[in-house]
Amino acid sequence: MICRKKPSRFLLLLLALVAALPSPVAHSAVKRRDEEKAGAILFRDKGCPYCHGDGGVGTKKAPSLASLPKDKTWTPEKITSQILNGGQKMPPFRDSVTDEDVADLIAYLRAKNKPVPHPTATQDSAPALQPQ
Ligand code: HEC
Repeated sequence: MICRKKPSRFLLLLLALVAALPSPVAHSAVKRRDEEKAGAILFRDKGCPYCHGDGGVGTKKAPSLASLPKDKTWTPEKITSQILNGGQKMPPFRDSVTDEDVADLIAYLRAKNKPVPHPTATQDSAPALQPQ
């Protein structure tokens, strides 16, 4: 029987654990595709194409990111560091991305078939929550 007013500590602990653990389906193909799509939008909205070009094709300012999925030296850790800390000419994005953003960007950058973000599918178009 569950007491609503005072959930047992064990239950709380269990809930916290379940929330903290990556769920077994976390990296199912569907979830990964969602991350890739979110990453595609972030890549565009965070201004990465300014240097890396649309879809990361590369410009005079920054190299193409197209070969990243095949390049074993570009581990998720190294990509994370590049995004958070920047590089020689790349600025750090530490202050403008969350951990989740980085995970989505990595999923996008490592995707073999990069999704193209829909022109109107910006985060701004999401319905705003009404303040209570
Ligand atoms: C002001 C220009 C600029 C912007 C904006 C920029 N980059 Fe870069 N990026 C670079 C340059 C230049 C390099 C080459 C290494 C260096 O100098 O840091 C690079 C390298 C990288 C690399 C390593 C690839 C390689 O082969 O060197 C990754 C991954 C990357 N950028 C991701 C991103 C992401 C994701 C964003 C957006 C959040 C972004 N960059 C925004 C300039 C930029």
